[in-house]
Amino acid sequence: MERLRYFWFLLFLVPLLMMLLTTPWTLLSKSFNDGGSGDDPRPSGATPEFRSLPTHVAGGRCRRNGPSQLNIAKALADSETTMGALAQLYGAHGAELRALHEKMRPWCEKTKSCKFCDREVELLYMLVRVWKPKHMFEMAPNRGYSTSVILEAMERNEYGHLDSFDLHNASVQFVENKGRWNFTLANVMDLTAANSSFMKPYDMIFIDALHEQAFSKWYTHDLLSHAVDCDTPVIIHDICAAECGGRESMQVYQYLAFAADVVATWTLAGGMMPTPWAAVKNGCAKLEEIRAAQGIGGNQKNFKCLGQRKSGGIDPSIFFVKVAA
Ligand SMILES: C[S@@+](CC[C@H](N)C(=O)[O-])C[C@H]1O[C@@H](n2cnc3c(N)ncnc32)[C@H](O)[C@@H]1O
Repeated sequence: MERLRYFWFLLFLVPLLMMLLTTPWTLLSKSFNDGGSGDDPRPSGATPEFRSLPTHVAGGRCRRNGPSQLNIAKALADSETTMGALAQLYGAHGAELRALHEKMRPWCEKTKSCKFCDREVELLYMLVRVWKPKHMFEMAPNRGYSTSVILEAMERNEYGHLDSFDLHNASVQFVENKGRWNFTLANVMDLTAANSSFMKPYDMIFIDALHEQAFSKWYTHDLLSHAVDCDTPVIIHDICAAECGGRESMQVYQYLAFAADVVATWTLAGGMMPTPWAAVKNGCAKLEEIRAAQGIGGNQKNFKCLGQRKSGGIDPSIFFVKVAA
């Protein structure tokens, strides 16, 4: 009799205990999975790491001072997480980008010098916002479109300085300088020849200058050959022209193939080079959805993106990070 009572007791108690133990986990995993749509390519794990970015300025950038922000670049460069990372960036900065486009539209009309695809400008802005460089290098501003975008992001960061170099000083009359900008009228080739430590102070590098092979041979050999103290994002614009293969790209690909300190290389130019973007199904359309949700879909400026290719549109910047030893 005693045994029978024990049997009935176990028969009810064991399922009850199992239900109590498993329900919270079921609910927890459901709420985590519900966070993304069914076709969201983000694997769990990679994106939360990106989500946990520090929003403050101090530390964060430099391995010496704390964790690097390399996770942003890695999330963008991995086709599994590219779309999720872009969604996070646009989600965090959509309102600022709307304001940026509003502000720059009359500027573009005035200068007739916004030859930079909207999506790449948006990325340039957002990457400066999240990376928060202390000392950024720009070659070259021309009339100052990229310069103005970088400075807008730095103003928002309330942090950082930009050093811009050009062979002419047209930018000086067009760029609003609130004290974070230093322009030098010079040939950067001369500056690096005179000082081998010239690039040392910079923790973010933007290159958009002479689009010729001889020039990219120089900047990949001399300008980018230094070891860096902090992980340093590099953006090279106009690597591919509409038909690609020409201009300065081959030297850059060669550099990237052999540089031991380069990681997280990626581009939006899916049709032009091996890129994680090409592996994202309907990447272009999805990015347009993300932009449209922030009220910045389509072409925002008088200079339109060069067009769309099946494999991903024509957005010729290439992004990578030089890592600190
Ligand atoms: C394509 S434009 C830059 C456009 C600019 N980033 C923008 O957003 O409008 C190229 C600029 O590179 C400058 N440049 C070319 N070679 C240079 C050099 N060796 N040193 C400094 N600037 C150079 C040119 O004078 C020109 O203004």
